Amino acid sequence: MEKILNLITAEMKKAFARCGYEESYAKVVLSNRPDLCEYQCNGAMAAAKAYKKKPIDIAGQVVESLRAARDEGGAAMFSEVQAVMPGFINLRLAGGFLAGYLNGMQREGKLGLEEPGHGETIIVDYGGANVAKPLHVGHLRSAVIGESIKRMGNFLGYHMVGDVHLGDWGLQMGLIIEELRSRKPELPYFDEGYQGEYPSEPPFTIGELEEIYPAASIKAKGDEAFKERAQTATFKLQNGYGPYIAIWRHIMAVSLADLKKNYDSLDVHFDLWKGESDAQPYIPWLIEDLQQKGLAYESQGALVVDVARDSDAKEFPPCIIRKSDGAALYATSDLGTILEREKLYAPAKYIYITDKRQELHFTQVFRVAKKAGYVKEDTPMVHIGFGTMNGKDGKPFKTRDGGTMRLECLIGDINEAVYGRIRENRTMPDEEAAQTAKTVGLAALKYGDLSNQAAKDYIFDLERFSSFEGNTGPYILYTIVRIKSILAKCKEASGQAKEARILAAEGGTEKGLMLELSKYNDALLNAFAEAAPHKVCQYVYDLANAFNGFYRDNKILAQEDKALQASWIRLITLTKDVLATCIHVLGFEAPDQM
Ligand code: ARG
Repeated sequence: MEKILNLITAEMKKAFARCGYEESYAKVVLSNRPDLCEYQCNGAMAAAKAYKKKPIDIAGQVVESLRAARDEGGAAMFSEVQAVMPGFINLRLAGGFLAGYLNGMQREGKLGLEEPGHGETIIVDYGGANVAKPLHVGHLRSAVIGESIKRMGNFLGYHMVGDVHLGDWGLQMGLIIEELRSRKPELPYFDEGYQGEYPSEPPFTIGELEEIYPAASIKAKGDEAFKERAQTATFKLQNGYGPYIAIWRHIMAVSLADLKKNYDSLDVHFDLWKGESDAQPYIPWLIEDLQQKGLAYESQGALVVDVARDSDAKEFPPCIIRKSDGAALYATSDLGTILEREKLYAPAKYIYITDKRQELHFTQVFRVAKKAGYVKEDTPMVHIGFGTMNGKDGKPFKTRDGGTMRLECLIGDINEAVYGRIRENRTMPDEEAAQTAKTVGLAALKYGDLSNQAAKDYIFDLERFSSFEGNTGPYILYTIVRIKSILAKCKEASGQAKEARILAAEGGTEKGLMLELSKYNDALLNAFAEAAPHKVCQYVYDLANAFNGFYRDNKILAQEDKALQASWIRLITLTKDVLATCIHVLGFEAPDQM
């Protein structure tokens, strides 16, 4: 279905044209004074300059024309149109028109969503976990934001390909290999004369692996010789040294199983489990090609590509492709990955989601990719850089003893807080309460993150996020659960209501709810166009508030006018469906009870 705002604008354009004014002035926006009107058009002010007339005269003329069209039985879209000083056109929608729009939403698939996508492939690079290092809260934001953008895109008709793009090829591998050698020198991987097959059993458990890496990392800080050995091991691994490749495979297998479990618990699912290692086969060609094209040149022993543009406000550093010691870098593997993605998917767009501190890196990579012609000039490459998740002290979130908080622990904490609230509120069997706490806890965590504009830092506030009131995930779920429970209570009436239509409402919280519902299409399309899940959160929050206002003012179960009751049941069913659809694209679901 056409967005409601577009329908209103189209009507306004006709009126401007009838009065002899350029249609482009007929822009309609949501009212910023809901007490005065629902929508407004401020175009008469701009038109006044062009036509050398008073804004109020133009507004008055357009209003007259809208009224005349209505009186002639034309589109009865507005119940009220008014010209107001200095030249605003204030609008209220006719109840019948609005109800008709909502009835259309009920009838159509995806609640009348207009799908802008036609199966175009979009790569979403998110998650970005580093193998053998435990997932920590820093990875949370990428996973949560990326999953939502991916779900939105799929829902809107694009073919979203989500890739976790693991950090699986860096120094952490050499550190683990060397630490393993010092702990278990007897392993065949360290025996240069060993001829046999390497064991299929990994030489460590996930618990050990998680302990080995931090220990090695600390050791490397104080022990220069150890660090050098780790660098050499990394270099040998990257050059395909058999025994180390065998260890690397074990690290990957053990670590991946654990990562998958963690992402599953976040209800985050990737289409591809690729990583930096997959980019390596493309790198020799990449370097040669960049040199041949005359783009890469030697600078202080390193190989670099200039990416500065005249339009840059600041000096823009070149992109380093190879270090003086011959090692490839983060940018090199991102370029290699782009070559692979072009070959396998030829995507129409790229979206990367990382910490905003990586912005320079991505700008450099995107510029090289375009300059070398690997990615078409008009293919959008977008980096969504997010801010830091801080603790209540305003500093990056840490555990109580100052360590890095592991994601699992964070999820555990939030589930516990929610569990407490559920037990406080009502008596639910323990097991059910624990299950519900998981569902609600995930919503608390994800909504707490997504409701902030991604680029901003935010404070992780367990108390606030898990509250059932205010702009929180649990509040949204609570609203859905409330609707489900009303519908269950009037089951018989609900059955009959299936045939019913939503009836017109001329005002009050009933119309308020209808107005919110009609913005669904607009809200989702805008949020995706701007890759901004927080806009979906804002919409569901407004909608939940509108519903709760309606619920407060109207006794649905006790309503004696059966036609009206049936209309209300349809209305709240639609509300539930819109809310459920929106939270699904945000990445969480509602329980049946809470
Ligand atoms: N592994 C990286 C990190 O932890 C994030 C990877 C992001 N994606 C990419 N294509 N560079 O910082």
